[in-house]
Amino acid sequence: MINAPEGTRDLLPDEAAFWKEFQRIAADEFGKYGYVAIDTPIIEQTELFVRGIGEATDVVSKEMFTAISGENLKTLLGGGHIKGKSRLSLRPEGTAGVVRAVLQHDLVPQGAAPAKLMYAGPMFRAERPQKGRQRQFNQVGVECLGADDPTIDAEGIIMLMRFFERVGFAASDITLLVNSMGCDQCRPAYRELVREHLQAHADDLCETCLSRMELNPLRSFDCKNPDCAAIMETAPRITDHLCDECRDHYSRVRRLLDGAEIAYREDSRLVRGLDYYTRTVFEVQIADNDHAQNAIGGGGRYDRLAEEVGGRAMPGFGFALGYERCAIALAERGLMFPTARRCDVFVACATDDARDAAFELAQLCRDQAISTELDHQGRSLKSQFKLADKLNARFVVILGSDELSQGLVKIRNMVNHDEQLVDVQLAVATLGSLM
Ligand code: HAM
Repeated sequence: MINAPEGTRDLLPDEAAFWKEFQRIAADEFGKYGYVAIDTPIIEQTELFVRGIGEATDVVSKEMFTAISGENLKTLLGGGHIKGKSRLSLRPEGTAGVVRAVLQHDLVPQGAAPAKLMYAGPMFRAERPQKGRQRQFNQVGVECLGADDPTIDAEGIIMLMRFFERVGFAASDITLLVNSMGCDQCRPAYRELVREHLQAHADDLCETCLSRMELNPLRSFDCKNPDCAAIMETAPRITDHLCDECRDHYSRVRRLLDGAEIAYREDSRLVRGLDYYTRTVFEVQIADNDHAQNAIGGGGRYDRLAEEVGGRAMPGFGFALGYERCAIALAERGLMFPTARRCDVFVACATDDARDAAFELAQLCRDQAISTELDHQGRSLKSQFKLADKLNARFVVILGSDELSQGLVKIRNMVNHDEQLVDVQLAVATLGSLM
């Protein structure tokens, strides 16, 4: 028996239906703000993620699944070289691919309105699997390219919170954290201050923080080691070191959120794990969750990403939410939608010689858009009724030889148990009128 790979999950039919519904609500909610669907490949050139997400991030340096196709694998194993564009990786996130597609197809020509795009699908990170942390997981995400106005950030955050409300989270279930990461003007000096702070406490830092002190000192804000956490408590705060433009941008975002009565907490230690962010960053966490993986969504602004991946300057903003973490939290609250299988009509046979007629009638119903099931296992009439119940059938049509010889069938309403005899020729029309 070969099982699914570690860190992956099968979405069995009930959950697959739930995931579809989750996406439908997202598309409906985000559609109100003008977001439309885009679908980009699951594999991209590795270079896109290296340049876009950042070489020093955990996602790129440790967690990418890099895919090498047949011939190239042979070449590599034989000690040869393969072309840069033949190095492909499974996408660890959706933003870089969407930005690549926008640039490649010039979706935002100079002077055009911003492109508002949304996507849903699997992402891949070779992390150590645990509850809420998988190697293949599903995200729903949005990206808005071509506008740097704070109204884009604020409406994006508002629509995400509206979405969480619609799937069933109460305001008290979730916490919204916001911060600003500054920009190329103000962040380098701030990063240097943090590096100096780490340097001053170097003796008490964990190995990982020591090793990333030069390259990526801001990552220490996420370190779980208690000593490092204590050191970072007293580290300089980015919000005290923003340039005027970033400070204005951030305060406008907050003002717009206040105006929309969105509850949030400012967290100057929120730095996020991907390197492309500038200015606004935010994360939504499950409030009462004692699991390690409590971030159900996050995102922010990335005004330099398009240039980082070789395109022209184009500001961007977006977020992604993790379907599985949402599903875990919703299930804990009894809020995973019941998606019981159902059919409108079950065609039952009282005798075996009615089976061909049942098959034909079922097909006529389906051709009239009535979802219809019938027995495929030679069950007795009694167990056909049990099956109809299990399938939540609203009506059962009973084909008996006596009735059929008179050209009649019986229709039973499974809710109020009313029965009527109808002409077999009129059965489909009658059922149609009952739907
Ligand atoms: P992220 O914070 O890396 O951001 O991922 C977004 C969400 O995906 C997380 O909040 C979490 O719910 C879920 N997630 C991440 N990793 C895993 C995992 N291993 N297992 C299960 N769920 C996971 C991004 O991916 C950015 N692309 C968001 C963005 C869009 N920023 C701007 N635009």
